[in-house]
Amino acid sequence: MIHIYYVGHSAFLIETEKEKFLIDPFITGNPQAVDTLDSFDKIDYIFVTHGHGDHLGDTVEICRRTQAIVISNFEISQYLGKKNISCHPMHIGGSFEFPFGRVKMTPALHGSDLTDENGNVVAGGNPCGFLIEIHGQKIYHAGDTGLSMEMHLLKEEHVNVALLPIGGNFVMDIYDAVKAVDFIQPSIVVPIHYNTFDLIKANPKEFATLVGKRANVKILNPGDELILKA
Ligand code: NI
Ligand code: MN
Repeated sequence: MIHIYYVGHSAFLIETEKEKFLIDPFITGNPQAVDTLDSFDKIDYIFVTHGHGDHLGDTVEICRRTQAIVISNFEISQYLGKKNISCHPMHIGGSFEFPFGRVKMTPALHGSDLTDENGNVVAGGNPCGFLIEIHGQKIYHAGDTGLSMEMHLLKEEHVNVALLPIGGNFVMDIYDAVKAVDFIQPSIVVPIHYNTFDLIKANPKEFATLVGKRANVKILNPGDELILKA
């Protein structure tokens, strides 16, 4: 069984019998999160899609507590490496076979600069998404992105679950996210990155109606989980 637990915004905890993964662990300051950092005491890997605070989030603190390995782009890995955090650097289009399965770093249309603890802006490389294969199930986390033709290439990957931003303004709105579903053709879609802040208001039920029969839309509230049979 693979438990895909929605922390809120773009953050997920994925749990198997053997491993625990976090994606974009924005917990402190996340108005949607129902958890505290203490909920994440044993984490093996953290995926970071880009450097923005609502995605890099609590990565540093969680790594200090759990010794988790961060999977991110080369530039964010260098930044975190200077803080003595273990990283596995990748870059767009690259894939790597991890003990749990293959991970491919996919393109995202967005920014990635990060702000360090002194308020200085640090270049964070290119933003990304992740195609994560965990014990045979394929999960695609799009990161923050606009609609892109590259998403069409994911169709042949037979994605089981696509985690897609729908909030607009910084990312796809519900209409473009429907086009993304058309491109990707996943079995299940979970809308993310909406209603956390005023600028990213969206109606997930309207999104589900527009997706129609293209895919099974699962609207998760923070604290909900989706369970896949591995
Ligand atoms: Ni962002
Ligand atoms: Mn964001």
